[in-house]
Amino acid sequence: MLDAKLALIGCGRLGFSILQGLRRAGLTRISVFDVDMQKVEKAASLGFRACKSSREAVEEADIVILSVKPGVISQVCQEIADKIFGKLIISTAAATTLTKLASLLPASYIVRVMPNIAVSLNGSITLLAHAPNVPKEVLDKAISLFKALGEVMVVDEDTLDKATVISGSGPAYVAYFVEALVKSAKSLELDEQLALKLSALTFLGASRLLVESQMSTKEVIDTVATPGGLTAKALETLDLLKLKESFAQAVLEAYKKLLSIRQ
Ligand SMILES: NC(=O)c1ccc[n+]([C@@H]2O[C@H](COP(=O)([O-])OP(=O)(O)OC[C@H]3O[C@@H](n4cnc5c(N)ncnc54)[C@H](OP(=O)(O)O)[C@@H]3O)[C@@H](O)[C@H]2O)c1
Repeated sequence: MLDAKLALIGCGRLGFSILQGLRRAGLTRISVFDVDMQKVEKAASLGFRACKSSREAVEEADIVILSVKPGVISQVCQEIADKIFGKLIISTAAATTLTKLASLLPASYIVRVMPNIAVSLNGSITLLAHAPNVPKEVLDKAISLFKALGEVMVVDEDTLDKATVISGSGPAYVAYFVEALVKSAKSLELDEQLALKLSALTFLGASRLLVESQMSTKEVIDTVATPGGLTAKALETLDLLKLKESFAQAVLEAYKKLLSIRQ
């Protein structure tokens, strides 16, 4: 797989993060196009091949990653449609179904992925759903590409859509929680830089307990929060303020928005 020739169309926030992760994984044979030539030049400065059009980028590629917004994906697909026969097309676009993509690029093998920006550090969880015509050896290429950027799970498309507002959006939620913890620390007149370090590293440490030690969330909570103690007091207050319910509502609103734009 590492010998495959890749093209990336759309070198924005996620596309560039993907490039950073692939570079860390030792892959730089990637042709890059974005309508914003400054972004293409930035990619070229990291050793990627700059292209002047999407058609030029896909010309010699075996695998094409489309990382543009849902609103422009039809236009991009139309530009490259006659150049992608038998190629693996991987779309990161939220809310753009396999059926829609297959109708735009019928002669190709379509895979949708939902990574998050932690791809830049090879620490993403990427969900992957594929069209029924994708042969196993082609699917394996998509899986190994995103395994270079973190963990991969093959799922059905409905699961991928729901996970979009969980793990795709997730780094922003985590940063938001870190901001909340930093704000709490500042209200206790702790230094902001110290507060940021304490908060971010605590998220990292707690996540490692959940993932690496396979502790359940309840075990983590019970190990920290002694009944009647300080942590228990803070958690009781969060429950009284209905933080979990508010969060569930926020995620539901995001999912409803996804359903409203699904194409
Ligand atoms: N950001 C995330 O964390 C994240 C996570 C998971 C999935 N996604 C999905 O990934 C896709 C990209 O998201 P993003 O946040 O990276 O968006 P973005 O920052 O807007 O990047 C998209 C890039 O595509 C460029 N572009 C627009 N039209 C183009 C065209 N016709 N040909 C080539 N390039 C074109 C844009 O240029 P201009 O800005 O000049 O228009 C921009 O540089 C979206 O569909 C999103 O749903 C994003």
